[in-house]
Amino acid sequence: MYDRLTASLAETDSLISDAVNNEVARQAEGLELIASENFVSEAVLEAMGSVFTNKYAEGYPKKRYYGGCEFVDVVEGAAIDRAKRIFGAEHANVQPHSGAQANMAVLLTALQHGDTILGMNLSHGGHLTHGHPLNFSGINYKVADYGVSPETERIDFEELQRIAEEHKPKLIICGASAYPRIIDFKRIAEIARSINARVMADIAHIAGLVATGLHPSPIEHADFVTTTTHKTLRGPRGGLILCRERDAKEIDKKVFPGVQGGPLVHIIAAKAVAFGEALRNDFKDYQSQVLANAKVLAGELQRAGFRIVSGGTDNHLVLVDVFSGGKGITGKVAEKALEAAGITVNKNTIPFDTNSPFVTSGIRLGTPALTTRGMKEAEMRDVASLIAAVLRDPESEEVRRRTKRAVTELAARFPLYAKRLKRDQPESQAVGAD
Ligand SMILES: Cc1ncc(COP(=O)(O)O)c(C=O)c1O
Repeated sequence: MYDRLTASLAETDSLISDAVNNEVARQAEGLELIASENFVSEAVLEAMGSVFTNKYAEGYPKKRYYGGCEFVDVVEGAAIDRAKRIFGAEHANVQPHSGAQANMAVLLTALQHGDTILGMNLSHGGHLTHGHPLNFSGINYKVADYGVSPETERIDFEELQRIAEEHKPKLIICGASAYPRIIDFKRIAEIARSINARVMADIAHIAGLVATGLHPSPIEHADFVTTTTHKTLRGPRGGLILCRERDAKEIDKKVFPGVQGGPLVHIIAAKAVAFGEALRNDFKDYQSQVLANAKVLAGELQRAGFRIVSGGTDNHLVLVDVFSGGKGITGKVAEKALEAAGITVNKNTIPFDTNSPFVTSGIRLGTPALTTRGMKEAEMRDVASLIAAVLRDPESEEVRRRTKRAVTELAARFPLYAKRLKRDQPESQAVGAD
């Protein structure tokens, strides 16, 4: 008999244990190019897996509805302090369970039910929570949208001003999920001021770049800044809200008890660890490499004959139009073919897409995860040529097999979570190996 509470996962639940081990191997052996994903450090993983998961802590530091929160207050205090330092913000709320919930809390703070919001068109790069009809943002508020110009595929600010004047939104939402260019937060704030609207900048994708000064910061221009913590910022899955002191109380009230109950303290502990990493000098080196890698990836794919939306990238992501020219394949076909070759990407609409969101004309590629593994420009050239080979012949089993072999070799040169890799090890080594 063993004690259920001290036995390892492998001993108690082989289904889940095997799935975890298989996922470690999948992440280590493939090439992860999903722009919204990254690999957290062992320290972040450790904090996430800590006993803080056991703790209820409704409320905020020193004002809790539960006893026993002295150590919770240490981690939440550290997370708040570090987030404020990273972004130069007056106030931080580190409790949102996700980016969507961070956005929900801001919309509840800034708006009355039925007010109008103005967000970026989803197929031009915006996010569901910026006004999609099936999302809370589109269900509870009237929605107007802006997008990119058909010529430049960059945000059309004159059109944005015109739409803002026409619809008079209470809140302009900027920030995106699939926009490869610098976002001019200052200009958007000027437009908002001209119609007496407030601004929410959702920097979920570019937070790591903003944190290190490699993308202009919205902090002085936007009333509310939201982000996820798990993309370029390289922390645990979660959300974060930054705002001015004058809105702090309302934001805190809208997160809890507005949209959430107890905070996920283990995740907040991991956010604190990730924020600590983001404050280190080498985090800027990492983010600079993310940018350099994205530029090379875009340039090489262009050289291979693919059209890159907006002609290139200023950030961590590259939108490739796989439909126009060449083979004319859809994003859906491209995603599946690349996956079969060990390269993970996602299909994505491109501006003015003629295919449906389930099919799409594009794929979205991002460099944060591969850069975390240590890959640089030379590897990006290899990755681009592997992608190009598959997309030129997406149905070919032979190309997929050949590419997968090259992918495995490349991935093996940049080990990931090596001490967690348990696949193919003898049973005696497989349990408790780390
Ligand atoms: C711009 C933007 N905002 C918000 C979110 C939502 O984050 P989450 O998936 O954590 O709810 C995302 C996620 O993809 C995003 O890209």
